[in-house]
Amino acid sequence: MFDLPNEEILPLTKEHVFFTWSAQAKVNPIAVQRAKGVYFWDLNDKRYLDFNSMTMCVNIGHGDERIIKAMQEQVAELPYAAPGMTTKIRALAGKTVADISPHQALTKVLFTLGGADANENAIKLARGYTGRHKILTRYRSYHGATAGAMAATGDPRRVVWEPNLMAGVVHFLDPYRYRSTFHRTNPDISEEEFARDYVNHLEETILYEGAETIAAVLMESVTGTNGIIIPPDGYLQGVRALCDKYGIVMIADEVMSGFGRTGRWFAIEHWDVVPDIITMAKGLTSAYAPLGAVAMKPEIAAAFNDNPFESGLTYTSHPVSLAAAVANINAMKEDKVVERAASMGPVLKRMLSDLGEAHPSVGDVRSIGLFGILELVKDRKTKEPMAPWNSSSPEMTALRKYCLDHGLFLYTHWHTVLIIPPLIVTEEQLKDGFDILDKALEITDKAVN
Ligand SMILES: Cc1ncc(COP(=O)(O)O)c(C=O)c1O
Repeated sequence: MFDLPNEEILPLTKEHVFFTWSAQAKVNPIAVQRAKGVYFWDLNDKRYLDFNSMTMCVNIGHGDERIIKAMQEQVAELPYAAPGMTTKIRALAGKTVADISPHQALTKVLFTLGGADANENAIKLARGYTGRHKILTRYRSYHGATAGAMAATGDPRRVVWEPNLMAGVVHFLDPYRYRSTFHRTNPDISEEEFARDYVNHLEETILYEGAETIAAVLMESVTGTNGIIIPPDGYLQGVRALCDKYGIVMIADEVMSGFGRTGRWFAIEHWDVVPDIITMAKGLTSAYAPLGAVAMKPEIAAAFNDNPFESGLTYTSHPVSLAAAVANINAMKEDKVVERAASMGPVLKRMLSDLGEAHPSVGDVRSIGLFGILELVKDRKTKEPMAPWNSSSPEMTALRKYCLDHGLFLYTHWHTVLIIPPLIVTEEQLKDGFDILDKALEITDKAVN
């Protein structure tokens, strides 16, 4: 269709394409040629095992013909319709998402282009619904790179852009057991008490800020890049109770944790909590097309029955993206992908804990479904991280390079290694990746004090 010799792809890209999250002079991308299942191939036909589902998004795996066909048919039939119109696929997509929402309670869906603008719109909905302005989010969070979503983000990706971000966000601490400030001297506290301490911390924050000023609590149900932090039992239930008590909208950001990643359609279902709003993207289409969504309870939508929702997007409900979403969700149901992820959860957990036992540089491992992490340390007692906060280290760089050289694509974040494969991964494929990781960890083991 478009002719360009392979050897020109990289130089031409470097000359004309500006890369996100990158120092432009240092950009050296993998030039990807094709992908299938849990693998992708570069221009030299080198195969990589994809342990990050590209950007934690290709949940159903690469090259699913059902999704490709649905998109092809949609683009041939009608590639685009204006935001104020409707289409067959728009009607179907809203119902398809509402049907998989927890207890089918989030019955109205606003379609966006990705995760950041899903969160932006969720914030606007909560502000409009409550007439309040503050948004509470946690420090160990990422909610997107637009100004509002970046303000909501707790991690250092926000700090570099301050002070030119949306006003009104207040951050609080995460129930992060491995490094809990409150529990250094009583690490064996029960899960129940641990959860209660962090719910109390949130309530204290609400009271200090003034409950009547707070529109929403926005949180990742299971934290993604900031550490696969799995909330203790009782925590999300406690947050739900606080939101009910103070009339605050509970927004679950399931952009990364949704669509089977944890073994449920949405991670929050593990604790049987129904938030008022769920934001989603990534696994919604398994990244076959860009799409985000804000699924909300009917009462939130009803607040805009008489007064308009003053916001919009040219590409809201883009038919080709919606076709990808409906085909993706149908294919996930047909293949029982969510159930598969749940049943592979214990397999991943065992592999992670085996690595943890074998390597002194592994300080902690955590996982839920196919959402896993290794936290690497220089010293298990002091928990000194293998790379400093918001930085890298020669050991972490070398570990990642070893993996890539040996055909394993994964995401390292500061001192952590994330394991987020497509949900169709087999035990054998997981083991192949873990064998490479096992060797790579010999590099970080050498840096242990
Ligand atoms: C939890 C979470 N929320 C929001 C986003 C932003 O999504 P997008 O990059 O599609 O804007 C991300 C992206 O990684 C995410 O992980």
